[in-house]
Amino acid sequence: MSSFPAVRGRRLRATPALRRLVAETRLHPADLILPMFVREGIDADVPIASMPGVAHHSLDSMKPALQRAAAAGVGGVMLFGVPLDEKKDARGSGATDPDGILNRATRVAAAEVGDVMVVQTDVCLDEFTDHGHCGVLDANGVVDNDATLERYREMAVQHADAGAELVAPSGMMDGQVAAIRDALDTAGFGDRAILAYAAKYASAFYGPFREAVQSSLQGDRRTYQMDSANRREGGREVQLDLDEGADIVMVKPAMSYLDVLADTAAISDVPVWAYQISGEYSMMQAAAANGWIDLDAASYESVLGIKRAGAEGILTYFATDLAERLRGLG
Ligand code: PBG
Repeated sequence: MSSFPAVRGRRLRATPALRRLVAETRLHPADLILPMFVREGIDADVPIASMPGVAHHSLDSMKPALQRAAAAGVGGVMLFGVPLDEKKDARGSGATDPDGILNRATRVAAAEVGDVMVVQTDVCLDEFTDHGHCGVLDANGVVDNDATLERYREMAVQHADAGAELVAPSGMMDGQVAAIRDALDTAGFGDRAILAYAAKYASAFYGPFREAVQSSLQGDRRTYQMDSANRREGGREVQLDLDEGADIVMVKPAMSYLDVLADTAAISDVPVWAYQISGEYSMMQAAAANGWIDLDAASYESVLGIKRAGAEGILTYFATDLAERLRGLG
């Protein structure tokens, strides 16, 4: 009974309706979170060459992009700020200036779509520092973990004050979740959630993002982001963030780390998300531009695969397009 010819796996693959009915994994627009770059000193969209279809928005031009995502049912937006070059300094002052670009963008997003999408912010200094690192440096030029936590505390409170519902520390400093939880609670923002970039790996696939945020980074982030070789350590980092009070845990990048994602889904008692990063997006765009893959099919399959591996929410630059297609609008 349990083998061929009684068993024929092809039976349930015979028609589109059957395949749809027995699909184990389904994507929904609300699973998707759109990362968005908002840049100071521009007054219209500026395309990002390394990320076809993605632009730097101004505080005004972000509004139609937010509206389009909201209309497609996208679950949330993750905001990144790109300050003027001359505003970058060693401690990333722009990150905690209430009138800094990210705080202003957060206010705009909260007012524009805060009732239908979850407004989320990147808590990290790299876009705001002149050296491009995710934290402040000590006298030897090494990222100073505990001094950086003080900056993150302040930054998270500014984001909450600007209207962020979910703040997302992405710098991989030890203790960042606990520090931010304490800062938010102390400032009266006990209702704001923390999305922890729990297992974030040093990756070659961040390349296009670093162009997108006009990163000043020399060198790499290997003293704080994780080594790609390490799976067990990924689970440990996730557990630490759960213990520190993370409301959601995330694995990043996604496609080269699906094992870590599956491990995370197995141990987490809070939602698990993944970030399909810039390089994952851009390489599909590049292959499609060459006629080597079908972009709609490949982007759908890649995001579905990330969900199948264990992510309930996926940050992806395909979010709006994909959500529109899922809704039959695109
Ligand atoms: C750090 C940060 C990075 C991304 C989001 N936040 C990357 C980095 O280490 O440079 C990556 C996003 C992407 O590549 O799409 N603030």
